[in-house]
Amino acid sequence: MNITVVGTGYVGLVTGACFANAGNKVTCLDSDSQKIESLNRGEAPFFEPGLSELMTRSIEAERLQFTDNPATAYEQANVIFICVGTPTDDGGKCDLSQIKSVACDISTYIHQCNDTPLIVVKSTVPVGTTQSVASTIEGNFSIANNPEFLREGNALDDFMRPDRVVCGVEDEHAQEVLQQLYAPFVGQGRPLLFFDIQSSEMVKYASNAMLACKISFINEIASLCERNGADIDHVRTGMCADSRIGNQFFNPGIGYGGSCFPKDTLAVMEMGEDTNAPCLVNTAVHELNQRQRVWFAKRILDHFENNLTGKKIAMWGLAFKPRTDDVRDAPSIDIAKTLLDAGAEVIGFDPEAWETFQSEVPDVTIAMDMYAALDQADAVVICTEWAEFSAPDFSRVLSLLRAPVIFDGRNMYPCSEMEKLGFNYYSVGRPTVKICPSLLINT
Ligand code: UDX
Repeated sequence: MNITVVGTGYVGLVTGACFANAGNKVTCLDSDSQKIESLNRGEAPFFEPGLSELMTRSIEAERLQFTDNPATAYEQANVIFICVGTPTDDGGKCDLSQIKSVACDISTYIHQCNDTPLIVVKSTVPVGTTQSVASTIEGNFSIANNPEFLREGNALDDFMRPDRVVCGVEDEHAQEVLQQLYAPFVGQGRPLLFFDIQSSEMVKYASNAMLACKISFINEIASLCERNGADIDHVRTGMCADSRIGNQFFNPGIGYGGSCFPKDTLAVMEMGEDTNAPCLVNTAVHELNQRQRVWFAKRILDHFENNLTGKKIAMWGLAFKPRTDDVRDAPSIDIAKTLLDAGAEVIGFDPEAWETFQSEVPDVTIAMDMYAALDQADAVVICTEWAEFSAPDFSRVLSLLRAPVIFDGRNMYPCSEMEKLGFNYYSVGRPTVKICPSLLINT
């Protein structure tokens, strides 16, 4: 099939590369001309395991190409996937300007497409947007909504082995085309689900809101544990043994970040306000998530009696999660800024996200090695649970740090081990490990 994908962010690029890999002829259109050349060389503009290799294979096989020319892109298209960004604008509202401009483009070039093209909205959009896109396009076409559930750092696997594929359609043509397109990726317990368009749009928000809710819930319980001498690890184990509750997305920590959960919980709140049914749960989820990173930073300030002048703080992990270089709405940004404002010198290490982080917080010094970051630091703060932090050489850590103090925002280590090793160890929802003050300074 001839597929046109509009927008080459996470969703567009992964969608294009995976459909091309399945044998379709894919043209990706992006208005950012600068990107086109490097994309056609198989270079993804962000770090995503396996993506560049997958792109290169299909580019070499002439199944995948990139262009900034709409006339080229829409020529002979059977299916058009709209995958442009829908960021939150300054007013906290979902910005649909890119979607609207693509709809205008399609209206201009639709006569070039094949027969009755199928237009699929894959961007995350408030309910009703897909219909409004359809109402602005003149011509003969089918319309559908098809939300994406891929996770950064796991995108290819999430696309090619999805838990489910959700489609919102209103005619048989759309259903048939999507059945054909997704046939290689579904089956064996991975359903292809067809609903009405509004429900399909809402599935995306409900799914992300539920996942974000689980995270804020466990973080709320974690802070209760901190204040009542309980241990969140035990509580979670006991709670999640109930099959009705499940055990995924209940990892306590400094809260969620990224380009999806923060934006989508706000969009759900907006939909509630716009329809006079304020979303109280989502509002609490959002507020608690904001509070989580502030509280964690406060524990660091409390440890240093609110004066970090002359102190050097190392940060391990800057990305909003492992296996990505994405720092959008990363808790590490707020924590670093709080430490800098309190007078600290902050030195950060991240295997991938150092460049993206530095453009957000230029006052943080970047170390190119995780141990170099610790040299003569008064404490280390862990914000991202990268694999390489899971079993570090603790004797080397002890010898490098000026004081054996760890603030672990991702609960990476057992408290008992930290006690045995002689660390002052703060984590989330677990008893703090305190060692006697005289051992604190390593001059
Ligand atoms: C998310 C959804 O998982 C995905 O289905 C959707 O398509 C896009 O949004 P992503 O933002 O890539 O994907 O990251 P995810 O792995 O979901 O993590 C989101 C945030 O939640 C990260 O900051 C992560 O650190 C945090 N998190 C996740 C927790 O704090 N605890 C958990 O148990 C799980």
